[in-house]
Amino acid sequence: MNILAIESSCDETACAVIKDGTEILSSVVASSTAMHEKWGGIVPEVAAREQLASILPVLTEALQQFSDIKIQRDKDIKSVIKNSIDAVAITVGPGLIGSLLIGVEAAKTIAFATEKPIIPVNHVLAHMYANFLEEFQENSSRAKSRISRGTKSRDTIISFPAISLVVSGGHTELFLMKNEKDLNWLGGTIDDAAGEAFDKSARLLGFGSRGGVAIQEAANKVNCHCDPAKGGRSNLYNKDRHASLAMTKEQKINSLPRPMMHDDSLNFSFSGLKTAILREVNKLKQSNSFNNTIIEQLSYEVQEAITDVLVAKTMKAAEMYDAKSIMISGGVASNERLREKFIFSTISQPPHLPIQFHCPAVELCTDNAAFIGSYAYFRGKKEDWHTVTAIPDLSVEG
Ligand code: KG4
Ligand code: ZN
Repeated sequence: MNILAIESSCDETACAVIKDGTEILSSVVASSTAMHEKWGGIVPEVAAREQLASILPVLTEALQQFSDIKIQRDKDIKSVIKNSIDAVAITVGPGLIGSLLIGVEAAKTIAFATEKPIIPVNHVLAHMYANFLEEFQENSSRAKSRISRGTKSRDTIISFPAISLVVSGGHTELFLMKNEKDLNWLGGTIDDAAGEAFDKSARLLGFGSRGGVAIQEAANKVNCHCDPAKGGRSNLYNKDRHASLAMTKEQKINSLPRPMMHDDSLNFSFSGLKTAILREVNKLKQSNSFNNTIIEQLSYEVQEAITDVLVAKTMKAAEMYDAKSIMISGGVASNERLREKFIFSTISQPPHLPIQFHCPAVELCTDNAAFIGSYAYFRGKKEDWHTVTAIPDLSVEG
């Protein structure tokens, strides 16, 4: 079954063709990040205008990557969809209303014109299906670029029950997955999402709207020693590069809080972190010590604090539900340190058996249409085009 998937919930415009929920036949993502850097963050109207301009070129490119015929006219688009696509999947929420409407109206028009069924998709739930996608084969003619490896290959099968952590710019949610279809929401953030905490910290540290990627880059410049016993990195993973800053003599910053890390719930809270960083930055600025080295140390500590909490809560859920695997997804799941901590935690849990760990390739963590198509295949319900509508505050708990 070939699904044409469309995603436009935030600032990306993306289209993909997915076969049987796992094989990426084509995937194209256009991002307006450069625009947002200019404005210091996402401006909904700017995002929507960019998406309006991008949607047709992105759709055409996604169909072109997948089709053998050279697409030159609107008629060609229609005939490729009519002949080779079984359904159209579309993100209906949660997201920005102006952005969602562009994808939703495009998908409805396609479904109407080609008489194909349409499958509405919840963007947050769909993120976790990036773990079901096979990565592009590096030698394949369809692979447009080398992608950083995740854990998924043709041979990896996810064992259930699984605990699934979705960590994106707007969401930090834990789910129990009993099989590919059966999802139960277990907990989520009570205030800021983990991605939001990265983004707000990045702004305070002077990285503008470059967010978690900038924090990761700066944190990677910190050199210290590793003590796995204290939650640092295992010798198996990049030995000698990281450790708790609290252990280094040159440390000039206070360690940041790990909110709710040890409470009984499966909820998260990250807003206190932003306040703590603000306090730290102000203090350092007042004493004229806010320099590049300090910014790198603060970035390291922010990354440690956020990833410590994410790993602790996910491992707690895995223990509570006797999970056989853990999977992570969403933009923050591309964070290298988070991946390493999960790898370390899932292989070294005596007396328990090792838990499988799954994470998508970096390109499949951030927003794209491939995971929208995968979700639609495993969990979607076909609808008639005129009942489909954009729902900006669509719940993730259902
Ligand atoms: O899933 P996503 O692309 O969009 C949403 O659905 O929100 O996630 C975007 C979030 C941003 O907060 C961004 O700063 C964060 O993912 N992010 C990262 C990294 N790459 C993206 N956070 C930490 N480390 C990264 N390497
Ligand atoms: Zn997302």
